[in-house]
Amino acid sequence: MAALELCGVPLRGPVLNGSGTFDAIAARRAFGDALFERFPFDAFVSKTITLEPRQGNPPPRLWETPAGMINSIGLPNRGLEGFLACDLPELVRLPVPLVVSVMGFSRDELAQLVAAVGERDEVAMLELNVSCPNVETGLVMGADPAETALAVERVRSETAKPLVVKLTPNATDPAAVAAAAEGAGADAVSLVNTLKGMALDPETGEPWLGGRTGGVSGPAIRAIALEQVAAVAGRVEIPVIGMGGIASGRQAADFIDAGATAVAIGTESFRDPAAGRRIAAELADLSLSRGTRATSSMTV
Ligand code: SIN
Repeated sequence: MAALELCGVPLRGPVLNGSGTFDAIAARRAFGDALFERFPFDAFVSKTITLEPRQGNPPPRLWETPAGMINSIGLPNRGLEGFLACDLPELVRLPVPLVVSVMGFSRDELAQLVAAVGERDEVAMLELNVSCPNVETGLVMGADPAETALAVERVRSETAKPLVVKLTPNATDPAAVAAAAEGAGADAVSLVNTLKGMALDPETGEPWLGGRTGGVSGPAIRAIALEQVAAVAGRVEIPVIGMGGIASGRQAADFIDAGATAVAIGTESFRDPAAGRRIAAELADLSLSRGTRATSSMTV
């Protein structure tokens, strides 16, 4: 029996990856089938794809902070056609349900992506990334409840598959954005994406990152993420996937106690690609000893 159901999709446990923080195709190349036997996550969320291929932002793309990092990656990807032809056949081999993350520069683009990805049987759910801080337009649909509702309403009829809306912490009221997403037909929300940040080159005083600004992640943002997850979970009925600097089972349990149904591991996987597996084991031990919701059978 699955440990839980997320939007009707059975999962063996509550630990996912944050989109773009674990390259399962490269890991398969490095570790071969051993990756499938010890896959670190209970569902896999793809790197965000866009309609057209993207090179991403110019380097440098990363800056280490005392408790995490700033990324300015800029959504490099093969585009929809490249994803369907090259990446999807690799990702369907993973031993867990597949969530495909999509991002559009307009509502119509988002709808095209949802329709094309949603019709693939191999895809269990879609995540709408309305929260990337690293694209040159500066457009972050998810910063505004009304914009988020319009986006979800536009794409809702394109697929019957569960839609997870990835929320930004760079919003005045993330719970209002979550409620707007729910009202427009979202099946779940995930949060937080990164907090907007910046680093300066100590030699020149100019922005270090090629994209000038980036997204801060890791332990530095965990307390902020936890508060936002609690606020959102208190406002919506749909499941919440919590993330933001989780590096241990204890911290994952905090997010579940705050109201998350599942958690996602992001920056910690850069330090230790097997972190998801360790955190899931720590969480299961903790849940057994505390009898929390994390290991109880549930359907949401
Ligand atoms: C990126 O590719 O810039 C990160 C993706 C995101 O923040 O959503």
